[in-house]
Amino acid sequence: MTTLDKKLWGGRFSKATDRLVESFNSSIEVDQRLYRQDIQGSIAHATMLGEAGIISLSEAEAIVKALREILADIEAGRVEFSSSEEDIHMNIETILTRRIGETGKRLHTARSRNDQVALDVRMYLKEAIRSIQGKLVDLLSTLLSIAESHTGTVMPGYTHLQKAQPITLAHHLLAYVQMLERDIDRLNDCYRRTDVMPLGSGALAGTTFPINRQRVAELLGFSAVTENSLDGVSDRDFAVEFTAAASIIMLHLSRFCEELVLWSSDEFGFVEMDDAFSTGSSIMPQKKNPDVAELVRGKTGRVFGDLITLLTLMKGLPLAYNKDMQEDKEALFDAVDTLERCLEVFAPMLGSMRVRPDRMRRAAGRGFTNATDLADYLVRKGLPFRSAHEAVGILVAYCIGQERMLEDLTREEMARETGLGFEYFGEDIYVSISLERCVEARGTWGGPGPEAVSQAISRARERIAQLNRL
Ligand code: ARG
Repeated sequence: MTTLDKKLWGGRFSKATDRLVESFNSSIEVDQRLYRQDIQGSIAHATMLGEAGIISLSEAEAIVKALREILADIEAGRVEFSSSEEDIHMNIETILTRRIGETGKRLHTARSRNDQVALDVRMYLKEAIRSIQGKLVDLLSTLLSIAESHTGTVMPGYTHLQKAQPITLAHHLLAYVQMLERDIDRLNDCYRRTDVMPLGSGALAGTTFPINRQRVAELLGFSAVTENSLDGVSDRDFAVEFTAAASIIMLHLSRFCEELVLWSSDEFGFVEMDDAFSTGSSIMPQKKNPDVAELVRGKTGRVFGDLITLLTLMKGLPLAYNKDMQEDKEALFDAVDTLERCLEVFAPMLGSMRVRPDRMRRAAGRGFTNATDLADYLVRKGLPFRSAHEAVGILVAYCIGQERMLEDLTREEMARETGLGFEYFGEDIYVSISLERCVEARGTWGGPGPEAVSQAISRARERIAQLNRL
C-alpha cells in the first residue's frame, strides 16, 4: 500500500498498481518535454483561480511562485521525474505539493488532466510551427540566392525523366520556392486551428466553478477559446493536420533530394556536394556519396508514418478523452524533430553545393530539347502546329539515324526531309533554335526566361520579407 498512498488518484483504490501496469501506463519518458508548457499552463490557471476567487489570492501567489521555482530547477537539471507519477502533469503537481503542502493540492481545482494535456500539446505545437516556419524561410533565402546567380544557367528540363525543353537552374529552383511557400502557408492554417485554448473543458463536461477561460487564453497568448467541452478534450485534429503539413514538406524535400542524388551522379554531374556534406565508403576509396540528401529522402517515410499513426490512433474513438490518445505525443514529437533536423541540414547542404553550369549546358544540348522551338518557328512561318509537330518529328528521326542534332542540318536538308517548301526555313532558323534563345523566348509570367525569372525572384523576396514582418 505504500506505492498506492503516493498516487494522486488513489482514494477509491484498495490495491496498489501492478508494476507492469505502472510502467506500461506511464508516459513520462515521452511527455516530460512538455514540462515548460505544463508549468506555464498551470501558472495561468492558478492566476485565474485566484482572480476569480476560487482559491485565495495568497494561495494563487504561493502556487505561482513555487511553479516558477520548479521550472528553474528543471531547467538547471535539478529535478528527476518518476514513472510512478505516470506523466508530466502528475509529476509536476506532486513536486509542487511536496514543496508547498496543502496549498499545492488546490491547483487542480476546476481542471482535469484531459484538458491540461490538450492545452500543453497545443502550446508546444504553436511554438514548433513558428520554429519550422523560420527554418523554411532560411531555406527559401538560400534557394533564392542560388537562383539569383543562375538565371542564365541553361539546363535540360525533364518530363518522364526524359529531356524535354531547356530551362535554367534558377527556374528549376524557383519551383521549390513555390512548394516551400505553400508549406509555410499550410502551417499558418494549421497554426490558426491550434491556437484555440481548451482548458476549462474539464474532464469532458466543463466545471461547476466560475472560471474565466478568456482570461487563461489571454494569459497564455491564445487567440480563441474552444467552444465545446467534449470537443475540447477529444480533438487532436491540429496534430493530425500538422503531421499532414509536415508530410507534404517532407514530400517536397524528398523530391528535391532525389534530384540532388541524380544530379550528383557521374552520369548527370550537374552538382557536387561539398566534402563537408558528403561521406565516403569503407571499402571503395573513390566514393563520395550524397548521404544527406539520401537520408532526408529516407526520413520522409518516418514522417508519413507519424501521420498514419495519428490518423489510425484517432479513427473510431468515441467521445471524449480515451487513453489511446496518450500515444499521440510520440508521433507528433517525432514529426517535429525529424522535420526540424532535415530543414536545419538542408540549407547549408545547398549553400555549399558546387553547381556545374558546363555540365548542365552540355546535357541540355543533347536530346533535341529545342524540337518544340523548331516547331514553333514553323508555326510562325504559317504552318498549323500539328503539322509543324509532325515535320519536326520526321527531322528528329532523321537526326537520330545520322547521329546529328537539329541545328546541324542544312536548310536544304530540312526542306527535303519534311517535304515542306524551302520558304519555311529561313536563315534565322539557327538562332531561333539555339538553347539560349529557346530559354529567352519563354519570357511569359511564370516561365524560364531570365527576365521573367528575375522578376519572379524579386516577387518571392518581397513575399518573404512580409513573412518576416509577421
Ligand atoms: N498522460 C495523459 C495523456 O497524455 C494525460 C491525460 C490522462 N487522463 C486520464 N484521465 N488518464 O493523454
